[in-house]
Formats: sequence, structure tokens, C-alpha cells
Amino acid sequence: LNTPSQYADSANLDARIELHRRYSLNPQTWFDWLFDRLVIPDTSHILELGCGTGELWRVNEGRIPRGWRMTLTDASEGMLATASRNLADLHEPFAFIPVDAVAIPFPDHTFDAVIANHMLYHVPERQCAIAEIRRVLRPGGVLFASTTGAGHLQELQDALDAIGAGHALALPEPSFTLETGRAQLGEWFPEIRLERYPDALLITKAEPLVAYVRSLLNPHQPNEAALQRFESWARSEIESEGRIRITKDSGVFIAS
Ligand SMILES: C[S@@+](CC[C@H](N)C(=O)[O-])C[C@H]1O[C@@H](n2cnc3c(N)ncnc32)[C@H](O)[C@@H]1O
Repeated sequence: LNTPSQYADSANLDARIELHRRYSLNPQTWFDWLFDRLVIPDTSHILELGCGTGELWRVNEGRIPRGWRMTLTDASEGMLATASRNLADLHEPFAFIPVDAVAIPFPDHTFDAVIANHMLYHVPERQCAIAEIRRVLRPGGVLFASTTGAGHLQELQDALDAIGAGHALALPEPSFTLETGRAQLGEWFPEIRLERYPDALLITKAEPLVAYVRSLLNPHQPNEAALQRFESWARSEIESEGRIRITKDSGVFIAS
């Protein structure tokens, strides 16, 4: 299946989730906040696209209504294997299936809700994926599509620019953002609401931040020299200021 090489297994995603877990200021985690937004009937069949390591469900164990059936999918089979391992003890009705969002192998009107959590920006043929989501949703069904906004990790991007990290270390520029997502969904979903999650990172150790930046490197052309400059910058910043503050800007479109 067609998946970005950074997601062949869960190592890169794990490094990012770990940084957010340790240093986010909002006491309610993203996955807990997102779960609160999932207003879905008690008896429902739910499709998650790009489920990653299954973190949404692991974190919210115990909150899943009895009548929900979940089909968890990802284009990366390595990622799906990790999700299936991580959720094995939950004894919930999960099915794990490799699926590319641009060709969803289910009949029309199969699902009551679709979740696409931080994944639509990875899909180049996004309009095709959104049309597929609309096709497999029942009439009255809901799409929860989360993404990041223009201010996301701004201070990190500024630091990378300032040390001259250049292209090899640049953060991805998501093409489906809190600013641009509504117009892209609008062709298929007449009703769209955006909810934003307020948060920032207050980082007090260099290592997890360096691991995060490493997870964004192109594995075929790792720019070790730039990464070392970044590491020196992070260490001296924490030594002199005690911390590095980084803005987070994320939210979810609720489309029906
Ligand atoms: C940033 S991760 C988010 C994972 C998970 N939803 C989370 O929030 O932790 C993006 C995920 O989308 C998957 N992905 C990328 N392109 C995809 C596609 N075309 N179809 C399905 N999954 C895809 C990746 O393999 C990865 O697991």
C-alpha cells in the first residue's frame, strides 16, 4: 500500500507521541480531548483511517460504549501490527485491516462515523480520499478529521531556520490545515464545524526534542550535521532559559 516511508514501523510516530505526552501543558491529553468530541450514537460501526499505533483507543480504554464496533485501518502494515498488539488486552470489537484511504474496500453507506486523526495531510490524492469517506458513510454519518494549524510548532521551525538546517530538517508543511481544510471538505460535506485544542509544549530536556526532530529526517538523506547543530542549540537554550516553549495548534473538523 501507498504509505510515507517514515511510517514503515511505529518508531517515528512513537518519538513524537512521547514528546507530546511528557511536555504538553494542557492537562487533558489530545487523545482524551478528541475522544470527548466523538459524539456518535451508542450503537455504531466506526472506521478509523490511518489509526497509527491505536493510541486513541488505548488512552480511552474504559470509555468505549458497548455498542461500538471499530474497524481500524492504516496503509502501513507495520503500524497496523503495532496497533493490534497495543490493543490486544482491551477485548473490544476491533478489526484491523490494511487500507489506503484513497480506495476504501467497503460498500457504500457502511459506517456511522469515520475518524481521520492527523492523517489526511499525508494523502496526496486528498479529494479522492474525502470522496471515499463520504461514500462509505451512512446518510447522517459524521467525519472527524483532525489536523494542525499555521502556528503549529512555530518556535521549532524558527529555530531550525535560524541554525540553517535547510530543507533536510524542515518540518512538513501540511497541505490540509485548520486554515485550509474546510474548503477541501466542503465539496463533500455541507455542514462543517471546527473545534480547536489549546496547548503548548514546555520542554526541559534536549534528548526527546532531538529525537522528535530526528523522526522528521528523511531516512535516505539524514542531515546529521544539521541535527548536531540543532542539538547544541537545544542544550544551550535549556541551560540558559531552563526550558523551550513551543506552540501547538491543532483541532478537529466535524463534518456531516
Ligand atoms: C501522523 S500519523 C497519525 C496516526 C494516528 N492517527 C495518531 O494520531 O496517532 C499518520 C498515519 O497515517 C497513515 N497513512 C499515511 N498515508 C495513508 C493513506 N494514504 N491511507 C491510510 N493511512 C495512511 C500512516 O501510516 C500513519 O500511521
